[in-house]
Parts: sequence; C-alpha cells; structure tokens
Amino acid sequence: MRQTIFAGNWKMNKGVAQTREYIERFLTHAEAIPETVRVVLAPPFTALEAAADHLYGSRIDLGAQTMHWEEHGAFTGEISPPMLAELGVTYVILGHSERRAYEGETDDDVRRKVAAALEHGLIPIVCVGETLEEHDAGRAQQRVVEQARTAFAGLPAESLAGCVVAYEPIWAIGTGRNCESAQANEVMEAIRASLPGLADASILYGGSMNADNVAGYLAQPQIDGGLVGGASLDAEQFRRLIENALPGAGGSRP
Ligand code: PGA
Repeated sequence: MRQTIFAGNWKMNKGVAQTREYIERFLTHAEAIPETVRVVLAPPFTALEAAADHLYGSRIDLGAQTMHWEEHGAFTGEISPPMLAELGVTYVILGHSERRAYEGETDDDVRRKVAAALEHGLIPIVCVGETLEEHDAGRAQQRVVEQARTAFAGLPAESLAGCVVAYEPIWAIGTGRNCESAQANEVMEAIRASLPGLADASILYGGSMNADNVAGYLAQPQIDGGLVGGASLDAEQFRRLIENALPGAGGSRP
C-alpha cells in the first residue's frame, strides 16, 4: 500500500547517549507530524535497543541499516533477521549503495535479504540507484529496473506491494547534488512498471533530500517520501523536513 514514509538513515553516526538525546528532542514536537506520515529512524545496531526503549509507545518506527539473510551461524560480525525482530525493528534498509560499494553486496545478496526480511515480518526498504557513469550514459532506468527485478525475484505481487523501494541515484548521495524531482519521478515510474505489485509499493527518493527541496519531490505523483541521510542527523532538521514535505496538505496523501 502506498504510504508517505520518511526514514532517517543515520549510517555510522550516534552512540547510545546521542540516540537517547535525539529521540527525546524529536518526540517533543512529533505531534505536529500528520498521522498519515510514517516516520522511521534507523540508528546503528549498537543503539537499536536504546532507540526501541525510547520510541516505545510513540508512532515512530524503528529501522535497521542492513542484515544477513541467514537466521544464525558462523557469520562473524553479522546480524540476523530474528535478532532485529526481537528488538522491535519494523523496517530494514537493504542494498544501500554504500553496502554494495564497500561491502561487495550484489543484486543477488539483496534478493536473499529481501526474502529473509519478509519471512521474518520485517519491511524491507530496498535501495536501487545508478552510478554517475550509468546516469550520464542514459542507463539509469535500465540499471534500477534490473536491480529491482533481481531484488524481488520469485516473490508474489502481494508481497511486493508491502515493500518499500528507495530510489537513490548514487551521484546524489551525500553530495549536495540532488536529482531533479521530475527526473526522479520518471525513474520511479519505470520501477513501478517493472514488476506486478510495485505499483502499490511505497517508493522513496534518497540523495541530498533536505527541508528546502522535500516539497518539490513530494509534489511528484510517483514519490511517496524520502530516505534521508545527512538531513536526518539533527532532530529539529529532520522534523522540519517532514513538516515541509506536505505544505498545507494536512497529511491528506495516501
Ligand atoms: P543523504 O543520504 O541524504 O546524506 O544524501 C541518503 C542515503 O544514503 O540514504
């Protein structure tokens, strides 16, 4: 089901104390966020438990930044789906371009992770995106459609409709060079058309989204929200971004 979602991907930032402080600040004014908007905070693994405690009873959901597809075993340094579920994690970011680039995650790894997440009742936020080279060669749509088709291979349309996709052009992440909203919209249209079920999935934009450019993205018909890195690290800034997303709409989007 298409929903308005803003997920804060903190990446390798904030320990337990900073996480507690952030959430306290964020929740102080969280009632201004329209009820139809889902907000997800994805701190590092070490702060998940503290975040879960502090978010208890609020409408903010907890997210993780990655996971392994196996339930347990000899995978040093990895975290499994049931470990996340036990902590109250609802969403898990999978296939982020930084994991693909620095940890060698392949499209096929992402496919296994998506299937494992769904098996354990976690909602995957599946990241797709093209490099600058692919973008300049006019291959953005082809690349992201290929990533999406592999990630969701073998899954029924009903499962896909419950997933979240994040379109994150790699050249726009953390660079301040955000992708033009109409262009992002076009790529998302191709993603939605690539598999049955994705028409009903929530698709987020990610890549230098901030409080000033967010409304332009959300005004596009295909864009349901954002996966936000840098601009989610400060509680007030992230809250302002979410408030600016739907100016005057009072949360009327689906
Ligand atoms: P950014 O990161 O907002 O800092 O560009 C987005 C992301 O990597 O998810």
